[in-house]
Amino acid sequence: FAFTPENQTWAEAQITKFPEGRQASAIIPLLWRAQEQEGWLTKPAIEYVADMLGMAYIRALEVASFYFMFQLQPTGSIAHVQICGTTSCMICGAEDLIAVCKEKIANKPFTLSADGKFTWEEVECLGACTNAPMAQIGKDYYEDLTAEGFAKLLDDLAAGQVPLPGPQNGRYAAEPK
Ligand code: FES
Repeated sequence: FAFTPENQTWAEAQITKFPEGRQASAIIPLLWRAQEQEGWLTKPAIEYVADMLGMAYIRALEVASFYFMFQLQPTGSIAHVQICGTTSCMICGAEDLIAVCKEKIANKPFTLSADGKFTWEEVECLGACTNAPMAQIGKDYYEDLTAEGFAKLLDDLAAGQVPLPGPQNGRYAAEPK
């Protein structure tokens, strides 16, 4: 693994934002950029970032494995789907969304769908409890989901459309602009 020239320039600029001796503080943006470049965080990518920051690989892996935003396994070419399974979402139907994932993507988390387009996993609270149940798809939040709406959303994504993120039940439709 190596950053593209553009990403390398960007990464070096991030590192200069931190005081001497604190370069390791740039780890999250650098890991994020590596993931954007590769689709997921391979071991060589984590090693590369660790080397850039003068850190031990294990320290970089500790960060990469702590946050749900980092994927340490291959993900679908269109999206990695994260279903919140914590209390509010669980009460409001997360199990139904997981059933849709099992049916339309794969029976087990982190397993590529037959067409390679999607992977899924259950995660802890993503901070959108008010609009439960919800899923993060790529970088976007889709909230107030129903199983039927979620299934259609996955179909639309597979067909190359990008449904509008946010509440999917018109929750904010009546609010003045
Ligand atoms: Fe699902 Fe918080 S419980 S977003």
